Amino acid sequence: MTANPYPLGLRLHGRRVVVVGGGTVATRRVPALLDAGADVLLVAPELTPALRAQVDAGRLHWVPRRFEPEDLDGAWLVQVAIDDPMAAASVSAVAAERRIFCVRADDRTAATAWTPAVTRHGPVTVAVLGGGDPRRAMTVRDAIRDLLAVRLGSDGTASTRGRPGSSAGATGGTDVVGAGGAGSAGSAGGAGGGRRAGRVALVGAGPGDPELITVKGWRLLTEADVVVADRLVPGLLLDELRPDVELVDASKIPYGPSRAQEEINQILVDRALAGAVVVRLKGGDPYVFGRGGEELLACAAAGVPVTVVPGVTSSIAAPAAAGIPVTHRGVAHEFTVVSGHLAPDSPASLVRWDALAGLHGTLVILMGLKNLAAITATLIAHGRPPQTPAAVVQEATTGTQRVLRSTLGEVAADLLAADLRPPAVVVVGDVVGTLDG
Ligand SMILES: C[S@@+](CC[C@H](N)C(=O)[O-])C[C@H]1O[C@@H](n2cnc3c(N)ncnc32)[C@H](O)[C@@H]1O
Repeated sequence: MTANPYPLGLRLHGRRVVVVGGGTVATRRVPALLDAGADVLLVAPELTPALRAQVDAGRLHWVPRRFEPEDLDGAWLVQVAIDDPMAAASVSAVAAERRIFCVRADDRTAATAWTPAVTRHGPVTVAVLGGGDPRRAMTVRDAIRDLLAVRLGSDGTASTRGRPGSSAGATGGTDVVGAGGAGSAGSAGGAGGGRRAGRVALVGAGPGDPELITVKGWRLLTEADVVVADRLVPGLLLDELRPDVELVDASKIPYGPSRAQEEINQILVDRALAGAVVVRLKGGDPYVFGRGGEELLACAAAGVPVTVVPGVTSSIAAPAAAGIPVTHRGVAHEFTVVSGHLAPDSPASLVRWDALAGLHGTLVILMGLKNLAAITATLIAHGRPPQTPAAVVQEATTGTQRVLRSTLGEVAADLLAADLRPPAVVVVGDVVGTLDG
């Protein structure tokens, strides 16, 4: 008889955890370790772009080679996220020798520790072990999560408020079924042939805090067979997926931006036509500089039903997270969201920066760090006063959020001095200081 596992809450803050492997399993496991404050050492010859982004941001250490026993020096825990059983066994042998608990993605029976299915509600974490059956654990976890969503507020305290009614999704006006027009099929995946119909949901994951996904978006994630995720989606959402869900890292798809988009469209269509429930998980809102429209059109053209679930966009959430309301009575009666990915003098730019300079309200610039000096100079040249308050919010709503407050005339230089990096939102306007003491 196998003894029951002994549940523990590991307090990993500042403690070394070694992750062996740099693929999709590691991509799903690392965010929860970082969230726990672990000192993560990743050992793998190659990384997914999502993991590389964590390395580039200085959140974890990467040793770009195969595992060596000394990698476990000082480790409290090791997670083996490789599918080569021989290599995995040799890591767990070293771990066992050193009395370090070892989680194995390839073989739960050979592991000395299991990762539970988890649901987080503010400070409350519920972890469920299913006796070695991850599906059972997920099912129980989902039921508990639904109960807690009703009974606890997002801060984990008891609440009498119910969550939004489930009927909201049906009446929300965002479902586009068989959106390819009159000629498109109402369902895909061999309708009438007894095969399950596939479908695609374009889901906004919110700006970074995993609790900022909508209830509907979260429910669809729990129903997904395939999740196609962008680099900017909150990693903790991926940690909570069922283990059998196929995770496609969209930022890993090669080719240039337009070719990569075609590839993504094709993956969505192919998987759905094969009968899968596909969630295309996108940072913020799918339609705010998210290319969601192109994906919807591609699915519609193939007769694949699509649901669009709006998300909390960083264009509003990032200012809010920094204490900046995008409108305020008597201060700003409009806010404009604009992409700064092209320089103002680029022939390809569709933005009338000269006209924007004449507005009094709030200007929110996404993807604008690289061109910020040119953008601010253009706004000033066309009449926006250089002393207009400005702010930059990096990695908003996450544990690594940074906020810089400045003025339109100085923000580009201040940004460089502070070494702020994407993803970041720039806010220009009097609202920037409105809520300050
Ligand atoms: C391709 S756009 C996608 C925007 C997304 N669809 C949305 O609605 O937030 C990426 C840009 O969004 C902004 N962004 C996204 N997440 C952010 C965050 N957590 N903090 C600050 N800016 C963010 C940055 O300007 C980033 O370069």
